[in-house]
Amino acid sequence: MLVLLISFLALLNSGAFGIQLRRVFPRAVAACPSSTSDCTLTSRQQLQSVENGVNMNITGSPVINSAIVPLTLSSDQRSYYTIIQSGHTSFRIGLDTASADLWLVSSSCTSGACSALPKYQLGYQSPTFVPVNSNSTAFNVSYADGTVANGFVAMETVQLSNLTVPNQAFGVVTDTNVTSSDQVSGILGLGFPRLSRVFNTVVNATPFFATMAQRGLLDYPLFGISLTRNSSGSLTFGAIDGSVVSNTSLIEWNEVVPFAPFAAESNTSSYLQWTIPMKNFFVNGTAAAVQPTFPNITAGSSLALFDVGASGIFGPWQDVERLFTSLGGRLVDASGQWAVPCDVSETIAFQFNQQQFVLQPTDYLIGPATGSPGLCLSWPRASPPSADGIDWQFGTPFLRTVYSVYSFGIDRKEPPMIGLYPLNAATAPVESPEQVEAFFSSASAAIATTLPNFPIATPTFTTPAYEFNVSVTASQGAIVTSGLATSTYSAVLATKHANVTAIQALTPSPTLVTFLITQDGQVRTSVSTVATPTVTLGAPPGWNAGTSLSVPMDIISMSSLLVVLFSFLSSTFL
Ligand SMILES: *[C@@H]1O[C@H](CO)[C@@H](O)[C@H](O)[C@H]1NC(C)=O
Ligand SMILES: *[C@@H]1O[C@H](CO)[C@@H](O)[C@H](O)[C@H]1NC(C)=O
Ligand SMILES: *[C@@H]1O[C@H](CO)[C@@H](O)[C@H](O)[C@H]1NC(C)=O
Ligand SMILES: *[C@@H]1O[C@H](CO)[C@@H](O)[C@H](O)[C@H]1NC(C)=O
Ligand SMILES: *[C@@H]1O[C@H](CO)[C@@H](O)[C@H](O)[C@H]1NC(C)=O
Ligand SMILES: *[C@@H]1O[C@H](CO)[C@@H](O)[C@H](O)[C@H]1NC(C)=O
Ligand SMILES: *[C@@H]1O[C@H](CO)[C@@H](O)[C@H](O)[C@H]1NC(C)=O
Ligand SMILES: *[C@@H]1O[C@H](CO)[C@@H](O)[C@H](O)[C@H]1NC(C)=O
Ligand SMILES: *[C@@H]1O[C@H](CO)[C@@H](O)[C@H](O)[C@H]1NC(C)=O
Ligand SMILES: *[C@@H]1O[C@H](CO)[C@@H](O)[C@H](O)[C@H]1NC(C)=O
Ligand SMILES: *[C@@H]1O[C@H](CO)[C@@H](O)[C@H](O)[C@H]1NC(C)=O
Ligand SMILES: *[C@@H]1O[C@H](CO)[C@@H](O)[C@H](O)[C@H]1NC(C)=O
Repeated sequence: MLVLLISFLALLNSGAFGIQLRRVFPRAVAACPSSTSDCTLTSRQQLQSVENGVNMNITGSPVINSAIVPLTLSSDQRSYYTIIQSGHTSFRIGLDTASADLWLVSSSCTSGACSALPKYQLGYQSPTFVPVNSNSTAFNVSYADGTVANGFVAMETVQLSNLTVPNQAFGVVTDTNVTSSDQVSGILGLGFPRLSRVFNTVVNATPFFATMAQRGLLDYPLFGISLTRNSSGSLTFGAIDGSVVSNTSLIEWNEVVPFAPFAAESNTSSYLQWTIPMKNFFVNGTAAAVQPTFPNITAGSSLALFDVGASGIFGPWQDVERLFTSLGGRLVDASGQWAVPCDVSETIAFQFNQQQFVLQPTDYLIGPATGSPGLCLSWPRASPPSADGIDWQFGTPFLRTVYSVYSFGIDRKEPPMIGLYPLNAATAPVESPEQVEAFFSSASAAIATTLPNFPIATPTFTTPAYEFNVSVTASQGAIVTSGLATSTYSAVLATKHANVTAIQALTPSPTLVTFLITQDGQVRTSVSTVATPTVTLGAPPGWNAGTSLSVPMDIISMSSLLVVLFSFLSSTFL
């Protein structure tokens, strides 16, 4: 299932705003400070020595095979985005771990959803553009919320910080109703190749992260995500964020569940989604076992999807109803929404492997309902049974409480894994009602709604037939011969994760970056005066929209009116 649920609100950027980002600066800070033998991760890395905190290869040039970039919560709070370059043009791109295609709106897109966005300029003859089938291979993705993006498949050099991936397949979107805020021009799907529409259409056209893993471009074939409610989160490739994870041994690793068929005849692995087994949930420390929709498929565990593109937590009715019964909540909408008293003084928690991952009220409450004083809407929301057997879906409210690591797995050596590092102390006292109230009033999180004051009946559902219906089963953690990262990587997570400390840690620069965007050429928010490299979204180098008559009007107005300014602020912060 293509669960995207970025479900951006149709909230177009209504004017100038400023956000603060930590500056992108992917220095390969050594996790292996003194000797190369401690950090033999890849054959590439064996060539390196470590000097001055930056990895150098034998020619003395810095080796950039990991990167850290800031992640920003969009102003509609629905998604997290970062910046990539495609064809030497910068774009904001929304992250999604439950889809596997990269796409950008192009200058041919005239749909309303494209109108205010920086676009991939087809009129600019990008020297790194590589056509696929003379631009005639259709690109079609659809997401769980019913939105679609259509266009054609092409290849470009895609850059994320200092990681450069030539010939990366992507969707050049000419028509979409996926709406976004904050000038976000597309989606970066970080799922497995089997989930990718492009990969299933064009031979060997792997998704961005798979491409890097299979070409051996990363120090280790993984990415890590830190999410905050502002711009201080991070996305790393090839390494983890050492400013968030202080002890890599405390990351709990979970083997990813494969989906049938476990075909040997193709070069696609059976891995499909970033999904792991889940055993229990807890209300204020009291455990309840999950009730899987297809218990026979997953040996009594439920399947939990980790989805940075989802702005909520979702579970099956049979579990969510029991959770809110314990929490003293009530169903307020037959779509599966519950509310609880805002002065709830209990934690909830989820257990995948051994550890409990604890959520405080300010993590799981959505906010107070304005028309129903004292009641707060709450995650998780209940979902009908899904034919793919995925019962739980952990989006950003959960992912903000952990550092999550997504390891692609290595051909013949190591299965894919999700690593979870708790950021909430399991033993911390539950937040007081006063803390919860103060949090929601400062976050202006009130929701303009009046909740029904009568009981809502629990709907009934027919469980669909299991979608991956084959008699063959594969054990979780299956090591496959192809379709994962190149086997030149040595496996550091296999065998009880013994060598996990060999994974590099990157630290974001303490320098702050402030974006200023205006739509009328005037910078409305002023920041510090320090040197200001300028990044313009959606405009290739030397691009002068005024001289290009082949581009539609909306591009011309967009390019000339959009000014993006980075200000680097020295900071004592961090
Ligand atoms: C990219 O790497 C070069 C050295 O190869 C370095 O000078 C530059 O600062 C790096 N860029 C970023 C954004 O880290
Ligand atoms: C060393 O790094 C430079 C610059 O990144 C690169 O061009 C060169 O191929 C590298 N050499 C080796 C042996 O990896
Ligand atoms: C494919 O698209 C690119 C970018 O717009 C364009 O330069 C090229 O001419 C197109 N090729 C064909 C065969 O239409
Ligand atoms: C988006 O377009 C698809 C296909 O036309 C349609 O089924 C869907 O309802 C639309 N969704 C929205 C939110 O407009
Ligand atoms: C797929 O995309 C192409 C190109 O935009 C479009 O013509 C076609 O109608 C789309 N197909 C579907 C099923 O949406
Ligand atoms: C951003 O959020 C983090 C974590 O919640 C917090 O520690 C930090 O102070 C916030 N930064 C800003 C600039 O608000
Ligand atoms: C990291 O955690 C492990 C496992 O709990 C512990 O043995 C080790 O001492 C910790 N290391 C540091 C530096 O705290
Ligand atoms: C799998 O990959 C190998 C090596 O690239 C290739 O020779 C083989 O034809 C591929 N098999 C399929 C079914 O695509
Ligand atoms: C599930 O497994 C149990 C025990 O093995 C078996 O009795 C039952 O028929 C199975 N149910 C289905 C739907 O396959
Ligand atoms: C939840 O547990 C905490 C202690 O961990 C306790 O102080 C609090 O009263 C409990 N809440 C309820 C509603 O039982
Ligand atoms: C699998 O699908 C076939 C055909 O749709 C059906 O006859 C069979 O009962 C299904 N098996 C299971 C275990 O659901
Ligand atoms: C850990 O790495 C060391 C040195 O790279 C290697 O000798 C050892 O076999 C590795 N251990 C495991 C369990 O992979």
